[in-house]
Amino acid sequence: SESLPASVEALTLQSTSQTSQFEGCFPSLNPVDIYREHIAQEVAKIAEIDAQKVYSRLQWTNTLDKGDLTLPVPSLQIKKNPIELAKELAEKFPESDLVNKPTASGPQLQFFFKGQPLAKTVLGRILDQKAAYGTNGNQGLKDPSDPSKGKKKIIIEFSSPNIAKPFHAGHLRSTIIGGFLANLYTVMGWDVIKMNYLGDWGKQYGLLANGFKYFGSEEALLKDPINHLFDVYVKVNAIVSEQEGPIKELKEQIKQKKEKSEDVSSLEAELAKLVDASEDEKARRYFKSMEDQDPEALALWRRFRDLSIAKYKQTYARLNIDFDVYSGESQVKAESMTNAYKIMEKAGVAEESEGAIIADFTKHGAKKLGKAIIVRKDGTPLYLTRDIGAITERDEAYHFDRMIYVVAMQQDLHLAQLFKITELMGYKDLASRCQHINFGMVRGMSTRKGTVKFLDDILHDVGEKMHEVMKKNEVKYSQVENPEQTADTLGITAVMVQDMTGKRINGYDFNLEAMTSFEGDTGPYLQYAHARLCSMTRKSELNEDELNTANFDLLTERHAVDLCRLLAQWPDVLINTVKTQEPITVLSYLFRMTHMLSSSYDVLKVIGSEPELKKSRMALYAAARQVLNNGMRVLGLNPVQRM
Ligand code: ARG
Repeated sequence: SESLPASVEALTLQSTSQTSQFEGCFPSLNPVDIYREHIAQEVAKIAEIDAQKVYSRLQWTNTLDKGDLTLPVPSLQIKKNPIELAKELAEKFPESDLVNKPTASGPQLQFFFKGQPLAKTVLGRILDQKAAYGTNGNQGLKDPSDPSKGKKKIIIEFSSPNIAKPFHAGHLRSTIIGGFLANLYTVMGWDVIKMNYLGDWGKQYGLLANGFKYFGSEEALLKDPINHLFDVYVKVNAIVSEQEGPIKELKEQIKQKKEKSEDVSSLEAELAKLVDASEDEKARRYFKSMEDQDPEALALWRRFRDLSIAKYKQTYARLNIDFDVYSGESQVKAESMTNAYKIMEKAGVAEESEGAIIADFTKHGAKKLGKAIIVRKDGTPLYLTRDIGAITERDEAYHFDRMIYVVAMQQDLHLAQLFKITELMGYKDLASRCQHINFGMVRGMSTRKGTVKFLDDILHDVGEKMHEVMKKNEVKYSQVENPEQTADTLGITAVMVQDMTGKRINGYDFNLEAMTSFEGDTGPYLQYAHARLCSMTRKSELNEDELNTANFDLLTERHAVDLCRLLAQWPDVLINTVKTQEPITVLSYLFRMTHMLSSSYDVLKVIGSEPELKKSRMALYAAARQVLNNGMRVLGLNPVQRM
């Protein structure tokens, strides 16, 4: 059913080996390709040039008044005045069933699709292909001319929170953007592996384990592991900070006495005692036992991890996300890291510096990357070291064609260092298959009760706010079957749409009022547009078979034709989105469409129209609903039927 989560999988339209003479042209998947093919062939004949050249120069437009496709005539590289040539090509372009006579606008040739044939092709296809309309299985093929060679594989690493620490805004954005990218590559026919790289290793687990002995409750752990572990972590950290003061003071005293050449042996003994008994030191020792594979220590850590993952899964499900792999810092094998040092040493990337091993990028033509520690003085690896081990492990385990890390821009340097080291180790090809997808900061993300800690708190708070907004319309509210659930879905949509508005690199202010409003380009507005189309379908009392036999020739009004032109763009929008890797590419298209729908309702009435006209208009709206639905799902939203 359409309300099931994670259902973009298996929706991909079968790839087709039926090839056109043009590369990347799949008329059976993308209706606009029919027009590209036609225009390219006709222009090529007139201009006496290669049709492939024309084909590859055709561009889509940003607004319908500039046509459906344009040809920048100078790009044809014909030695003639481009403005004259544009005029000439426009005049000579033959009568066509598909397009009107082109218009020359300066050196641009603008093509407008004819309404009726377009409506027939596009609406017919949408109603037939449904959720698969717009998808393109060829995009993900290793070789589009030979599907038997299989799909390309992409790892998308995203979300990646740290156990026992807050799920902050950076993780929220990574989750939303990563989920979107996973959907996008899936519907474009790639084999997608969704990976969560948890922060699940390090001294803080020693701290947590000891803290659990003092403050832990088995019952609370089972009930709400994420919150409970966080509480324990906060409490034990408070002890650590308390103990820091006296230790620091003592160190300072020793320093001063030493300067005066006074005896410090008793103070040093006292310091050693203090340090030894400190939580910080106990945590270090505990973590050391984990690193040394102490079974008991590992068992407790594993429980924390498993329980946390189980809880994360529930929260991710609310966002229609389920990971294929829960990896994490703990999963990186020691031998992958030692192997990596060896290779780095051989390649001259790693060197000793004050007892530690470092990589000095300034010596390798990458001044901006500075220096990075690879192994600490005490022999322990770092965050970067684990990533170096992980990247080679993943390459061996998955043989991926691409890997994307969805991580906040605060880690730009970290990922640049990772990729550079990979390259310097001699894995140039591996480095070139990896990409960092970054994003800006969310400012002021908090719940109404106070500062936010976890994703569930935020989603709950926004859901409640949405519930209040819904209650304001009593009549409608009474018709919604499960208002709590709908409010929850609308709340999640509100958060996600606000996050996806604007380019990834821009930060934004978390604004509960703005995101839950029905005014403007918000999540609730998008859901409302979808619910309204669903309601029209119900009220029309026309079934699918009846809509399929609609006479599309009756759709003659400007609004109807323009809507069809917009619906025809969806497959191109998806292809363009693969290039931009920006959710806003999809989102702004959906808003363009919903605005056009809003202005069409008065002109293209369904109820009260003649039966045949009613049927064809309803078919148009049903097709629009389908495309809206498809777009929302790629974004990771759950379209509602009623609200
Ligand atoms: N856990 C990290 C954090 O919260 C993000 C991990 C990003 N991925 C990576 N491969 N380093 O900052």
